[in-house]
Amino acid sequence: MKSCTAIAPSSTANLGPGYDVFGLALDALYDRVTIKKSAKKDGTIRIKMSDSAIPAAPESNSAGLVIKKMMQDFSLSDGLEVAVKKGVPAGYGMGSSAASAAAAAVALAGLYRLKITKEKLVEYAAEGEVASAGARHYDNVSASVLGGFVISSVGEGSVPRFIRIEPPKDLYMVVAVPSIPVPERKTEVARSVLPAQVPLKSAVHNVSGASTIVAGFALGDVGMVARGINDVIVEPARKHLIPGYDGVKKNAISAGALAVTISGAGPSMIAFLKGKKDANKVARAMAAGFSDAGAKSRTFTCRPSSGTRTV
Ligand code: HSE
Repeated sequence: MKSCTAIAPSSTANLGPGYDVFGLALDALYDRVTIKKSAKKDGTIRIKMSDSAIPAAPESNSAGLVIKKMMQDFSLSDGLEVAVKKGVPAGYGMGSSAASAAAAAVALAGLYRLKITKEKLVEYAAEGEVASAGARHYDNVSASVLGGFVISSVGEGSVPRFIRIEPPKDLYMVVAVPSIPVPERKTEVARSVLPAQVPLKSAVHNVSGASTIVAGFALGDVGMVARGINDVIVEPARKHLIPGYDGVKKNAISAGALAVTISGAGPSMIAFLKGKKDANKVARAMAAGFSDAGAKSRTFTCRPSSGTRTV
């Protein structure tokens, strides 16, 4: 095989109390990565980005970091031409770097027909998060690679494990992406505002919410999932970074959303719905919340995605 292409979905991380642990793949938008062997066997990785705002140097690019690491581990020496077509906007909390990383890992594994487990693919894709977040967090990449709702079980010193649960059929989301300037390395910035320690009461609240979310996914109960989406640790520390946060949340709930939270590190906001009946109303309400705060926004109604695949 001379070339391989994979597409990987956007994703939302955290779902409120599941900071760095929960991820849900969203079928809103996709990144596409094509990897081609070049004529020279010089081990060079050349990346062509569809979005020139994202650095194309392999060591500062999420797809590049993944490919470099996999080539090293599998002793691959071809020169590679990599084309990354961005569908997921970078810097808005929709798992953009994770989507490029996931597509890169799956495309490279496809190109060389590597025999690796899906879990290992997630671990490789997580290499890419270092480029944008400065840390190897697994929530977006695990969802983007595996699809559905994923719990990343990555206790200190233990081997990462990823638990996938098929989401309920009637789960719909509306994501509102505000057109506001975001700082470079936004995720790193959004992580720097978080408290180093939390009161026990807050930890108990979030554990209770997170458990409810997991039970909701396991039982296929959208209402239960939504009841758990209430975070008293990360969201209060980050909401000042999002103009219109309170209005967007209030409006979405009034329009019929069951829960609303920051998507990943933001600034996008995500609403959870049972069925799609109220989706347009919720989308308009969220856009109005951003507009009242002086920000234009785009909205996407979506369902869970089944993950990364070669095409
Ligand atoms: N869990 C990460 C965070 C997701 O909230 O910082 C970043 O996309």
